[in-house]
Amino acid sequence: MYPRLIINTEKYRHNLKVIKNLTSKHGLSLMVVTKVFCAEKPLTDIIKEESVDFIADSRIKNLEKFSTNIPKALLRLVSLYEVERAVNVADISLNSEMEVIRGLNNAAAKYRRIHEVILMIDIGDLREGYFYKEDVFAAIKEILRMKNIKLKGLGTNLTCYGGIIPTEKTLKKLIDLVNETEQKFDIELEIISGGNSSHLYLLEKDIHLDRINNLRIGEAIALGRETAYGSIIEDLYDDVFILEADIIEYKKKPSMPEGDVGMDAFGKTPDFEDLGVVNRAILGIGKQDVDFYELKSLDKNISLLGSSSDHIIAGIWDSPSLYKVGDVLRFKLTYGSLLSLMTSEYVEKYYVKTL
Ligand SMILES: Cc1ncc(COP(=O)(O)O)c(C=O)c1O
Repeated sequence: MYPRLIINTEKYRHNLKVIKNLTSKHGLSLMVVTKVFCAEKPLTDIIKEESVDFIADSRIKNLEKFSTNIPKALLRLVSLYEVERAVNVADISLNSEMEVIRGLNNAAAKYRRIHEVILMIDIGDLREGYFYKEDVFAAIKEILRMKNIKLKGLGTNLTCYGGIIPTEKTLKKLIDLVNETEQKFDIELEIISGGNSSHLYLLEKDIHLDRINNLRIGEAIALGRETAYGSIIEDLYDDVFILEADIIEYKKKPSMPEGDVGMDAFGKTPDFEDLGVVNRAILGIGKQDVDFYELKSLDKNISLLGSSSDHIIAGIWDSPSLYKVGDVLRFKLTYGSLLSLMTSEYVEKYYVKTL
């Protein structure tokens, strides 16, 4: 059945091992992030087999899908309405709001647990985290008095909202704060979580930042690249996931629509470039499943022209006779396309094991 994602579990395992070696070589613990593949079992099984330090996801529902002895971390800031679910499924959560941490403390007390918290510090990307030092210190002062919350450490996230790259200068803000916090409160922070797949280029350059001792990595393992500059990491597979979609119509047609132009299926006025008569393949997959801009055709002779909710239209430029209705086109993926394809229930997930 098509469309389907071919998911190579052994290539995923290989990528995971390489990243695990790279992080441990630099003395860093690893949180393997499962959200881009919705924590699907064949891949979480591999993570468990490779016994990593932590398994992390941004969605509670994903963390609830599997059981393991490996500590689970909840990456997205906890919602005030989900503190009980959070303490029951996650050992650790990332936080930046005292009201929520108080809620976690109460929930953890109710279930007789100790919940661990990594306090998030915003060092410039402007997504989650405390921005001002005084606010961090006020939060820590209160957390240290809580009976059911353990301050596990500090963390930061970069290259997400603001596209800020982790550099020694930027990360120094976090490191200085760690040192000051430990001195001020006379404590030792267990985890200093430096970031995500965008941090890996520093390790590849052999730049190790003193004090940072943990990374949270999803994309690099799934797609084989670091995310500061988008470069492929040496020795990693970039085709763990391949999309296959079948041709449901194949015809020669002009590239300019005929008639008066109004709105397309999504209420936008479309714009067309006249490319003459084009061999057009309609694929049985659409916007509901994926944004076609995020697909990379393995056949360079094909480019994607547009899409509606259930269809993607491909132009086939040379050797049109190579294709016919029922043939399957194959694509490599970006982070965005993988995320939406894994989330779409209309896309079959087909697991293979051979390297
Ligand atoms: C807080 C946080 N840390 C780490 C990650 C993993 O990022 P990447 O997939 O770029 O490694 C995510 C992704 O969802 C995240 O939200």
